[in-house]
Amino acid sequence: MKLTLALAAAFAAAALAAPAYAGPAEDVIAKEKCNKCHTEKTTKKGPSWASIAVKYKGNAGAADKIFKQLKEGGKVGDEEDHKKVEAGDDVIKAIAAIVLSSK
Ligand code: HEC
Repeated sequence: MKLTLALAAAFAAAALAAPAYAGPAEDVIAKEKCNKCHTEKTTKKGPSWASIAVKYKGNAGAADKIFKQLKEGGKVGDEEDHKKVEAGDDVIKAIAAIVLSSK
């Protein structure tokens, strides 16, 4: 499948170019400029990934909730029109996993 190949290539390229950011999910986070409002540890306009992970600790539905939120965008908490992620479901799931595994 073409898309799978493209993703694999992107993964390989990212792994070569930047070992700290090693996958399509990290690429999308960079491309969509999520870090304008979120970073791993610092609260900016939005909460840090780590604080989101703490908020959802022990919540089995957290990954699904974040997946849906990122896929659909729109209202998130006090943010009236949260950014929607234009990417495949696998990539969006990977982003949710990155957020929830941050500390
Ligand atoms: C313009 C600023 C802005 C950008 C850009 C942005 N966010 Fe957010 N995001 C926010 C704010 C503000 C909140 C907190 C909303 C609240 O809980 O009141 C938030 C909340 C979240 C949450 C937690 C939601 C929850 O259920 O607690 C996640 C996950 C998230 N953002 C992911 C992302 C990702 C991934 C991107 C990039 C695709 C992104 N955000 C881009 C402002 C932003």
